[in-house]
Amino acid sequence: MSSQANKPPLYWDGTGQHALYHPQFPRSNRYHPEWVFRNQMGPNVLWLAELLADSLDLQPGMRVLDMGCGRGLSSIFLAREFGVQVWANDLWVSPTENHERFQEAGVSEQVFPIHAEAHVLPYAEDFFDAIFSVDAYHYFGTDQMYLGYFVRFLKVGGQLGVLVPGLHQPWPRTIPAYLTEPQGHGETFWAWDMATFKTAAWWDELWSQYPFLRLEKAAAVADGGHIWAEWERRFRAYPGDKLFPDDLDAIAADQNRYLTFIQLIGRRSDSTF
Ligand SMILES: C[S@@+](CC[C@H](N)C(=O)[O-])C[C@H]1O[C@@H](n2cnc3c(N)ncnc32)[C@H](O)[C@@H]1O
Repeated sequence: MSSQANKPPLYWDGTGQHALYHPQFPRSNRYHPEWVFRNQMGPNVLWLAELLADSLDLQPGMRVLDMGCGRGLSSIFLAREFGVQVWANDLWVSPTENHERFQEAGVSEQVFPIHAEAHVLPYAEDFFDAIFSVDAYHYFGTDQMYLGYFVRFLKVGGQLGVLVPGLHQPWPRTIPAYLTEPQGHGETFWAWDMATFKTAAWWDELWSQYPFLRLEKAAAVADGGHIWAEWERRFRAYPGDKLFPDDLDAIAADQNRYLTFIQLIGRRSDSTF
């Protein structure tokens, strides 16, 4: 267990603006920037969770699956901001480590850490009122077979909300050099698995084919590339320990041309499988 002295505070004290303050994200502004920087696994998970939650109807006491929650910041956010119960499911991050974070955040009676792979989920069918997933679904959900498995864990009428990195327009045959060449700090942004970054039209076509889902929204965040660059700019300026380097050079050079976030909202319909 790490010592308390090394831990950044979880919540902002409310005085003045801070290093991650953003007028578009009033709920995220309540969390301490150092806590967010130290636990980052991609673009600011609180900003993305707030964007996604704004499109869902989350009520106190609901059962929510947070799929691919990483270090569980979105799970803490959902519990605190909406009073929901959260099953915080992840593969790479240990549930023991996440449980410790949930205890520190005072939400461990409400947020349950689960270690499970997306194709072998330990839940009852028809269990969740909502499934929520930020920056994770593209790792397994581009497979056309997947949603037919996944949606069973939702109650009929339950909400499915996904936010993934994606594209304003399909990748060209040759990926732009500003994405594939090493950035100033020597690390390259582009990796082969970014082939899973798709447009809203691609997701729309996939999700509208399923009889068991009523698709309500498949849309790119209009200024998603700018929001992403804004995060990277602030992350670069953060002087403390980082799990990953920033991607400011690549994201800023893209100028919201390709890279953005895709929001997918649906409800399980009562059609049988
Ligand atoms: C980029 S991280 C994002 C984590 C977190 N949502 C965030 O935004 O900070 C992607 C997460 O997806 C999870 N993930 C990837 N493949 C998975 C799989 N096959 N089953 C379950 N989770 C998976 C990983 O464990 C990882 O924590």
